[in-house]
Amino acid sequence: MKNNIVLIGFMGTGKSSVGRYVAKKSAGKFIELDNEIVQRAGMSIPAIFAEKGEPFFRAMEASLIAEYSEQEDLIISTGGGAVLNPLNVENLQKKGLLICLTANPEIILDRVEKDNNRPLLAVEDRLGKIRELLAQRAPFYQVADYTIDTSELTVEEIGEHILGYSRGWADGKNANCSGRK
Ligand code: S3P
Repeated sequence: MKNNIVLIGFMGTGKSSVGRYVAKKSAGKFIELDNEIVQRAGMSIPAIFAEKGEPFFRAMEASLIAEYSEQEDLIISTGGGAVLNPLNVENLQKKGLLICLTANPEIILDRVEKDNNRPLLAVEDRLGKIRELLAQRAPFYQVADYTIDTSELTVEEIGEHILGYSRGWADGKNANCSGRK
């Protein structure tokens, strides 16, 4: 039985805010993987990337995913690059319903603009970089059981949508649904 809800998707699509909302409205415990990495490393994400390198960050990410994938009743918000590693996908799928949040590039830019916490977007042409990464990653995000475009929705609307979908899924209504929208 899958009873974790796992939010995947690009930076700035609302995974953390939505995950927090879904956890508050359900019996689930909220796990923000980036936050866990920061806590355990005792460093910010830009500092980890700069001082230890991206492979070190990805190894920590993979190890936390393996750890939390064994637990239940979690709402897990993943970093945007987590699903690039097939082992992470395999682990997250064990007990988790994978929900992908998307948004259009301009909205993503608007949401991440004032945030300097994302080393991959620390470039001159942020919109160009967002478009490039979105194109590269599109096939990886297709592992989702269900995808929601968050561009025009509030956190509450997205959260309720996910809660409805996961209840339906648990009731078996979505049992034979490939789910991709
Ligand atoms: C990353 C996304 C970030 C964070 C790190 C790398 C990515 O998480 O894990 O900066 O590769 O897309 P958010 O998606 O929560 O911003």
